[in-house]
Amino acid sequence: MVAMASSGVPSIPSSISPPPVTLPLKNIPGSHGLPLFGSIADRLDYFWFQGPDKFFRSRMEKNRSTVFRTNVPPSFPFILSDPKVTAVLDCKSFAHLFDMEVVEKKNVLVGDFMPSTSFTGNMRVCAYLDTSESQHSKIKNFTIDILRRSSKIWIPELESNLSTFWDGIESEIANNQKSSFRNLLQPALFNFFSKTLVGADTAKSPEVAKSAHIDVIIWLGLQLVPTIHLGIFQPLEEIFLHSFRLPFFPIAGRYRRLYDFIEKEGEEVVQRGVSEFGLKKDEAIHNLIFTLGFNAYGGFSLFLPVLMDRILNDRTGLQQRIVDEVRAKSGSGLTFESVKEMELVYSFVYETLRLDPPVPTQYARARKDFKLSSHDAVFDIKKGELLCGYQPLVMRDPNVFEEPEAFKPDRFREEKGAALLDYLFWSNGPQTGMASEHNKQCAAKDLVVLTAVVFVAYIFRRYDSIAGEGGSITTLQRPN
Ligand code: HEM
Repeated sequence: MVAMASSGVPSIPSSISPPPVTLPLKNIPGSHGLPLFGSIADRLDYFWFQGPDKFFRSRMEKNRSTVFRTNVPPSFPFILSDPKVTAVLDCKSFAHLFDMEVVEKKNVLVGDFMPSTSFTGNMRVCAYLDTSESQHSKIKNFTIDILRRSSKIWIPELESNLSTFWDGIESEIANNQKSSFRNLLQPALFNFFSKTLVGADTAKSPEVAKSAHIDVIIWLGLQLVPTIHLGIFQPLEEIFLHSFRLPFFPIAGRYRRLYDFIEKEGEEVVQRGVSEFGLKKDEAIHNLIFTLGFNAYGGFSLFLPVLMDRILNDRTGLQQRIVDEVRAKSGSGLTFESVKEMELVYSFVYETLRLDPPVPTQYARARKDFKLSSHDAVFDIKKGELLCGYQPLVMRDPNVFEEPEAFKPDRFREEKGAALLDYLFWSNGPQTGMASEHNKQCAAKDLVVLTAVVFVAYIFRRYDSIAGEGGSITTLQRPN
C-alpha cells in the first residue's frame, strides 16, 4: 500500500511517477474572463455547447495544465453565487480537496451555490458543515454510529428488497417482454435505507410506501436543478431551469409527511441522536432525512443503474467469470465474510466507480494561502479561492491509471491493483482512507462498495446471465 503524507494527501507511488524533483512554481493559467460575460460564456459552454466533459477537457488542453482558472455555473442573472473556480483535474492536485488543514467545506457542497435551507428545516445539515464546526462532529459521529449498528441487518434487508425487485422485473418481462427496472429499483432502495438507517419500516405507512421515493426525487430536483446538465431542449433548459432557484413550497407537504414518518417510526434512532450525540430532536430528524434522501437514496439511484448498464453491455464474458466467483465463494450465502472474498466483483465495482463517479464534481475553499502541486508544477492558492475537481477526468489521470480510458474490470485486483485504491476518490477521499469527524469523506464509503458487491453477487446467484439493451432488461437465464 502507498504511504500517505502527514497531511492526509496520498503521495504518488514511485512505481507510477518518476522520483520527486523540485517542481517549478507557475502562475495558474486560464482566466475568469470579463465580469459577467466570462461567467455567462462559460455557463453556456458547460450546459449547452460543450457539456461538462468537453468543458473541462478542452480547457485543460488549451491551458496545457490540469490546474487552471475558469467559471462554473450556476451564475448571473438571478443566482448570486460566485462562479470563479480553480479547476484541479489530476489525482495529485485533486487530493488537496481532502486535506482539511488547507481547505474548508463550509457551505460548499455544490461550489458556491447552496440550496436553500428551507429544504432542510431551515438548518445547515451535515453536508454543509465544515470540520471546524462542532455540529459536524456530532452529526458525523451519529451517522457513523448508525451505520455500525445497522451492519447486522444490512445484508438480510438488502437481499429481501432485491428479492422483491427481481420478482418485479421477472413479472414485467413476462408481461411486456422487457423491464426498464428503474421504477422498481427506487422503491426498493428507499425501503432498504429507511429500514437500515432510520429503523423505519415503510410498510407501517401506506402513503410513504407508495410515494416517498418519488417525493424525494422531486425534493432533490428542486434543490439541484440549477446545477445539473439535463440535456433537454435549449435554450429552454437555460432559461427555465438554470437561471433561478426553484422554491420549496411545492414539496413542503410531502416533506412534512416524511418528517412525521421518521419522528414516529424512527423514534429509537432519533432518540439516540438526542441522548447520545447531543442533537436537538428536529436537528436529528432533518439530518436523517438528508442522509437517507440525498446521500443514500440519491447516491444509489445514480450509481446502481450505471452498474447495471455495465453488466448488461458487457460482451467480454465478464458475467460468466462473475457467476463462477460468486458461486464458489458464497456456498453458505451472502455474508460480510463471503462477500469479502469476491475479488473480481469488488474490482468490477471499483472500476465502475472510477470511470463513472456518481458525484462527478467536488469542491473546497482554501482555508489559508498554500502551495498546490500537480504532477508537473506548483501553484500559489490564496485564502478563500474555490477549488473545483471534476472526477471523471481526474479518474482518467494517465500518471496513475494505465490505459485510463479503458474499462478494465480486473484493474483493482492483486497487490498492484490494491495500491491504486489510494487514488480512487468517488467518496471525497481515497478508498483507503477512513471517514471521520475530522474529514468530509462519505460516511458510508465501505458500505457503499459492499452494497454494490452484494447487488452484483445477488444477481449472479439467482441468474446464469442477464441481457438487455437501451437501459432495459429483456432476458433472465435461471440456472437449470
Ligand atoms: C452510491 C452512493 C453514495 C455516493 C456516490 C456517495 C458520495 C458521497 C460524496 C461524494 C460525499 C462528499 C460530498 C462532498 O462534500 O463533496 C459524501 C458525503 C457523505 N455521505 Fe455519501 N455517498 C453515497 C452513499 C451514502 C450513504 C448510503 C450514506 C449513509 C449514511 C452516506 C452518507 C454520507 C454523509 C453523512 C456524508 C457527509 C460527510 C461529511 O459531511 O463529513 N453516503 N457521499
